[in-house]
Amino acid sequence: MSSANPIIAADAASVTKAAEFLRAGKLVAFPTETVYGLGADATNDRAVAAIYAAKGRPDFNPLIVHVAEASALDDLVEWNETARLLASHFWPGPLTLVLPRKKSCPVSLLVSAGMDTLAVRIPSHPVALQLLREVGKPIAAPSANASGKLSPTTPLHVAESLGDKVDLILAGGRSQVGVESTVLNLTSPRPIILRPGGITKEQLEKLLGSVDEAQSTTEQTLLSPGMLASHYAPHLPLRLNADAAGVDEGLLTFGPDFSVKGGAVRLNLSEAGDLNEAAANLFAMLRQLDQPHLSGIAVVPIPNIGLGVAINDRLKRASVR
Ligand code: TXA
Ligand code: MG
Repeated sequence: MSSANPIIAADAASVTKAAEFLRAGKLVAFPTETVYGLGADATNDRAVAAIYAAKGRPDFNPLIVHVAEASALDDLVEWNETARLLASHFWPGPLTLVLPRKKSCPVSLLVSAGMDTLAVRIPSHPVALQLLREVGKPIAAPSANASGKLSPTTPLHVAESLGDKVDLILAGGRSQVGVESTVLNLTSPRPIILRPGGITKEQLEKLLGSVDEAQSTTEQTLLSPGMLASHYAPHLPLRLNADAAGVDEGLLTFGPDFSVKGGAVRLNLSEAGDLNEAAANLFAMLRQLDQPHLSGIAVVPIPNIGLGVAINDRLKRASVR
């Protein structure tokens, strides 16, 4: 990552450069009408893991996928009639729809934090739209701030919050909406607002009739930032901090130490001991080890630093049953 000031005014040349950066797996902050986003190629596990690392997120909250055209979502999510109606009314604009992932969805499981759903939206900022068109890939983008800090509405906010952790910041003025998009869950029988935002409940109800709101922060937490219930947990029991595995267990290791014995199937999150690579592999490898002929999955200790904190958080949640 460069230490030079990464802010560039958005014009045809810089947007093309930003698109090239994104295709190459780099992080690009870009303007949207709500807040600035920290974008990465949503289909690239390593690039998505780099988002979490740059933000310093203590856990893997699921991320919103941005595209320029609704048709670009056909390969990613299962549409329903309500989603079509909402998309035709409010896109491009500050509404995010949570829909079931398609089985063949090429988006990193890390974007969904291991869940079977995907949050998607088309932003209306012309720079965001031009960038997304040029990239031609779905772009995962949380707000471009360090975890726990305010969402940025100017390029300077992004630079102050993330500094040189981002490869390029496309400057496109002040975000007009200034609050994040409304997140609407469409996977339940009735639509539920998971996060209030740029599109109001009244606007949604005009179109859909009554819409539910996640009542409490507990309920929001359960349904959305994907902390507890809806999170992916393997069918098999997970045994953490293992120093060996049984002959009928799957074994998930980390790092170059091959002294851990046992395991009918063995996978290594990162032979190099790279926590970014480990995060990128986590959900996919848990799924790979979740085989019915095994009795459980043993996981070696993961260093509790950097992205290791988020990895351990997810492993702990997945081991509770
Ligand atoms: O306006 C916005 O939405 C901005 C711009 C950059 O698009 N993005 C943004 O992303 O605010 P972030 O990561 O800061 O917030 C995403 C929200 C979180 O509350 C997350 O829990 C929820 O969307 N979310 C993402 N995927 C989800 C999913 N599959 N199910 C439920 N909630 C999801
Ligand atoms: Mg945010």
